[in-house]
Amino acid sequence: MHKPAPTDHPIHEILQNRWSPRAFSDALPETEILLSLFEAARWTPSSMNAQPWAFILARRDDPAAYQRMFSLLTENNQRWAAGAPLLVLAVMNSLRPNGKPHRWAPYDLGQAVAHLTFQAGALGLAVHQMGGFDAARAAEVYQLPTGYEAMAVLAIGAAGDPAALPDDLRQRELSPRERKPLPEVVFDGEWGRPLIER
Ligand SMILES: Cc1cc2nc3c(=O)[nH]c(=O)nc-3n(C[C@H](O)[C@H](O)[C@H](O)COP(=O)(O)O)c2cc1C
Repeated sequence: MHKPAPTDHPIHEILQNRWSPRAFSDALPETEILLSLFEAARWTPSSMNAQPWAFILARRDDPAAYQRMFSLLTENNQRWAAGAPLLVLAVMNSLRPNGKPHRWAPYDLGQAVAHLTFQAGALGLAVHQMGGFDAARAAEVYQLPTGYEAMAVLAIGAAGDPAALPDDLRQRELSPRERKPLPEVVFDGEWGRPLIER
């Protein structure tokens, strides 16, 4: 299923077609394809080129690993994410090499995941990011090193048939996409003066 953004201004088709499905097709992407996703993340810009990110994969063809990550998700997310052939834990290094907090680490990790997401789109895959998981337990389960924090779980695969979803989730899957209008968030010269009028 496609769910292009109804944009007010033209954007690149990869951005327009990116969305976060809940229904996925079963097929696990090949390792070569997965490597391209992480290569895209690898080339993300980051503050002082610190690259404060790491990723742990849980593939459907490794049921123990898949279950380990799946069990960290909230019940609401488990209702749909069970259909995704791949889960990925996005991990952030919150410390600089000097041991001080790294203020830009969340910004950098988010950007790395965005790059991964657009590469996925270019390869016909979708990514649904989730903050709804037990980050403290993830740190224990994966024995994350000091300073590393589990930030998100990504469900990755080709978008599937919404008919496979429970009724309430199917309705959300089919509902229109919405965003704040640009004048609410893009200002010209000073806070609150819209670049364009409504
Ligand atoms: C950091 C982050 C956390 C999110 N957490 C969840 C989540 O726990 N469960 C969920 O179903 N969607 C989650 N989402 C997906 C958003 O709800 C989704 O991106 C947003 O509604 C916009 O929809 P779109 O991605 O299809 O444009 C999350 C997205 C981000 C970026």
